[in-house]
Amino acid sequence: MSRKWWFTIAALLVTATLYRNRLRAYLEQASANVRDFDLPSAGAYDALVGSVLEGFYARVAGEVAAAYPGGKVLEIGSGPGRLAMRLAREAPGMTLTGVDISGAMVERAARRAAGAGLSERARFEVGDVAALPLPDGEFDGVVSTLSLHHWPEPPLGLAEIHRVLKPGGEVRIYDLAHWLWPPAWGGDRLARMAAASPFGEGEVEVVRWPGSVPAFIVLRLRRAREAES
Ligand SMILES: C[S@@+](CC[C@H](N)C(=O)[O-])C[C@H]1O[C@@H](n2cnc3c(N)ncnc32)[C@H](O)[C@@H]1O
Repeated sequence: MSRKWWFTIAALLVTATLYRNRLRAYLEQASANVRDFDLPSAGAYDALVGSVLEGFYARVAGEVAAAYPGGKVLEIGSGPGRLAMRLAREAPGMTLTGVDISGAMVERAARRAAGAGLSERARFEVGDVAALPLPDGEFDGVVSTLSLHHWPEPPLGLAEIHRVLKPGGEVRIYDLAHWLWPPAWGGDRLARMAAASPFGEGEVEVVRWPGSVPAFIVLRLRRAREAES
């Protein structure tokens, strides 16, 4: 065998060893970061995904601000805070609490609010939708975008959202459409999940907004008023 072949084989062996010992560990860590929305993926998400979704956030903010112009609103999975900032600007009478399981996202959102001079009305904290660090019956409305498909147990999340809503309060959950997120196929599974939750029933709609994400689902659930329950 020529020297060139020996050199190629040796280079391949070194690469394989490097991959096993270092590259694989690095790739595993990077993919865990992406899954957990920890740094640096919180920044990458904000720059690459968040920025192209501005049209989507504008539309959601318009709907939510019209529904609760002066209320207390909770955003679940608030990510880098882009929707929260739009909401705070659009509805000056609204106070916002953002909860996200990722500390890196919470830091980012808090920095964005401080930069915009909106920290007084928009605060962010780390928390899991399945065990919200918030009191009962606190919010007029709850909103969540593109987060539901990350929740390991969505029924626990719905029960917690129901607990923190005031009687008569409503949650609007916007998420990937059925073709992007198989659990939402046809909306039927979501409708069944809503029916089995403390909300009892809900409305599931597949929406297309031109110039926004191609299609997504909106799950609207209302907590019954005392007299209705
Ligand atoms: C795809 S990002 C969406 C962020 C933002 N809502 C948006 O529309 O750009 C999903 C967010 O949900 C958060 N998240 C995932 N699981 C969660 C949980 N169990 N409780 C609270 N937040 C969660 C993630 O940390 C992440 O910030």
